[in-house]
Amino acid sequence: MPGTVILGAQWGDEGKGKITDLMADRMDFVVRYAGGNNAGHTVVCGEDEFKLHLMPSGILYPHITTVIGNGVVITPKVLLEEMDGLHQRGISCGKLRISCNAHLVMPYHLAFDHLGELSLGNAKLGTTHRGIGPAYADKADRLGMRVQDLLDEKIFKAKLEVALERKNAILTKAFDQEPFSVDEILAEYMGYAERLAPHIDDTSLLIARALDDGKKVLFEGAQGTLLDLDHGTYPFVTSSSPTIGGVFSGTGVGPKYLENIIGVAKAYVTRVGYGPFPTEQENECGELLGARGVEFGTTTGRKRRCGWLDLVLLRYAARVNSLTGIALTKLDVLSEFERLKVCVGYSYQGKIYHEFPPHQTIFHKCEPEYLELAGWSEDISGVTERADLPEAAVRYVEFVEQGAGVPVVLISVGPKRTQTIITREEYIEPIEEGPYLYREDFDPPAK
Ligand code: IMP
Repeated sequence: MPGTVILGAQWGDEGKGKITDLMADRMDFVVRYAGGNNAGHTVVCGEDEFKLHLMPSGILYPHITTVIGNGVVITPKVLLEEMDGLHQRGISCGKLRISCNAHLVMPYHLAFDHLGELSLGNAKLGTTHRGIGPAYADKADRLGMRVQDLLDEKIFKAKLEVALERKNAILTKAFDQEPFSVDEILAEYMGYAERLAPHIDDTSLLIARALDDGKKVLFEGAQGTLLDLDHGTYPFVTSSSPTIGGVFSGTGVGPKYLENIIGVAKAYVTRVGYGPFPTEQENECGELLGARGVEFGTTTGRKRRCGWLDLVLLRYAARVNSLTGIALTKLDVLSEFERLKVCVGYSYQGKIYHEFPPHQTIFHKCEPEYLELAGWSEDISGVTERADLPEAAVRYVEFVEQGAGVPVVLISVGPKRTQTIITREEYIEPIEEGPYLYREDFDPPAK
């Protein structure tokens, strides 16, 4: 079965772009299934660095058909700028296919994202201000504009009029803002329509046919499990489904095709925006992680919050997504730490939780229970074989495998394609020992 999924196992920014790019050379299709240009995927190819927001990472390979699935929300201006930028660097977007059912991010979505955050005051989410939440909200409200509407000016105009009647009423009356003009948006979007039309397709059929023909398809996630609208740290989440369910709803193919589901996780944890983060280190250690890991957002340039690896969350991600493997990224960043802390449980009101607590209050207020592991001082950014890693680094990786209950199939030790250790070619071999943290007799270490 030829389907592989790569998705974020933490709060996004785990390094999915690099892993997708790495695996893409053996793929025929790379499909984005969720999110929009709130995502930022950095791919380093030789000396060249590419920052992609809407474009599937496979675009750098000429043999690959890239697909933007129906679960993605598309800002046409951004997509076209990205296409132009790639074209200028000699990369063709000729094989890009865009789902006719994907929704469009409209100018008023950006306005509502901004106003929504302002009105929340101190309770704001820290969104990327790209209009993502309002675009998905309109989709659910059946007020959304879709890619296929671009192909029929009359329909586009009629739908826009309906949407703007409601949007402008709120903008002018509740927020004292200028209304949007139907004609201006229509003219702008019809300009985009002309350029996007050759790429618009029934991508559900396209992907299903490809899979039936034995073609290899990689489903590329954006954001991460803890930002999932249903399974994340709601309301501090994005408005789409970065988890495994999003693959099906966001592309229109079913689960029978999937073979590998790879969760990408950093060797530590980062988060942008607000919301709970039990292992956050608002201290020198967090600063060091951020500096060594160059933890600034690809999309907004915001400084990312940094903390120790949280195995409770990673095991949760493994469960929610049925992960078959973990790609552990940025292991090289940990090289300077003499001791490494790993969270193995949460303590709240005298009780220890070894599973992700379903009640958000616990997650907000808990104290992490850490195990300390020995660190290593060697620079590992040039290591390409697991056997050549320092012993302490191997132990760290093994600990991650045991804690998450999923094998680490790949380790990334730097941004370049060559800075990668493939640990398990077969990707799906189960680990022999049971998940460490499930032990009944688990005894959390003293602090
Ligand atoms: P939105 O997706 O712009 O609505 O933002 C909602 C939350 O998700 C905010 O906390 C953002 O910082 C976060 N977020 C959205 N996209 C990404 C991403 O690609 N990486 C990390 N965090 C993200």
